[in-house]
Amino acid sequence: MTTVVRKPAEFRRACDDARADARSVGLVPTMGALHDGHLSLVEAAKIRTDFVAVTIFVNPLQFGAGEDLDRYPRNFEDDLAGCRKRGVDLVFAPAPNAMYPAQFQTNVSIGDLATPLEGECRPAHFDGVTTVVAKLFNLTGPCTAMFGRKDYQQWKILARMARDLDMPVEVVGCPIVRELDGLALSSRNRYLSDTERARALGIVSGLRAAHDAWAEGERHPDALRSLAAKQVQAGFDRVDYVAAVDPDTLVPPTEAPSGLLIAVAAHLGTTRLIDNVVLGADPRP
Ligand code: PAJ
Repeated sequence: MTTVVRKPAEFRRACDDARADARSVGLVPTMGALHDGHLSLVEAAKIRTDFVAVTIFVNPLQFGAGEDLDRYPRNFEDDLAGCRKRGVDLVFAPAPNAMYPAQFQTNVSIGDLATPLEGECRPAHFDGVTTVVAKLFNLTGPCTAMFGRKDYQQWKILARMARDLDMPVEVVGCPIVRELDGLALSSRNRYLSDTERARALGIVSGLRAAHDAWAEGERHPDALRSLAAKQVQAGFDRVDYVAAVDPDTLVPPTEAPSGLLIAVAAHLGTTRLIDNVVLGADPRP
């Protein structure tokens, strides 16, 4: 049975009760509009833990001015049906003023990991993410929390935050779920027109080009980056970045890398997509 709670105190109690019952808690934080990428995190949580909680909250703090907060897709009934079908135990769907009551004024901010890539394009975005996820971790208590490597930098930042602040949370990064043609599942894909949907494959072509070159022995970050960038530029209206960085520090490697993160953010019309692959670790996208 899936229980729905709206109030932070109710959510905390339900997680406490599960642990009191000797059940380990799995946490899957989301902003809703659930798709198979989100639901793969639920599956991962079910394998590792006894009591799975999904949070659904479109967090205003992590959207910048001019971003898609107002049009971000919200369909709670569909989300709940998906959670029921997957055997989620608890859904926490708070109202914004329950998470951020009047006079809320605390910010959780992390250092260098939040500076490059998304941090450069979306100032204050990661402060919004770390602040809301710190709140969710505090409400949940000891748990295993699942994040998608689709948001690779976010996953790294949240793992760092939990370690740095001694939060009793194991942060797990799960593989990217893709459509059959390779496009990474995203709540924002629904904004794409048919022609944009076809052009979006430029990201996948770019990641594959880099992956293929790596498989053939290419190790120069700039060469691998350029291969990816060429394909992305051909498909997209505007490219925020195509980066080749160390998968742990997110800065360009200084010597021949044993692994390399190729991370992409680019716009098609009014839609911004991100994707990535870790060369030397991930399968071909
Ligand atoms: P949201 O974009 O809803 O994503 C929720 C989780 O689903 C994230 O961990 C994200 O990486 C994962 N996810 C999305 N698409 C995926 C895919 N194709 N394959 C695998 N995992 C995928 O990320 C957020 O929400 C928010 O920033 C949040 C962490 C909830 C804080 O507000």
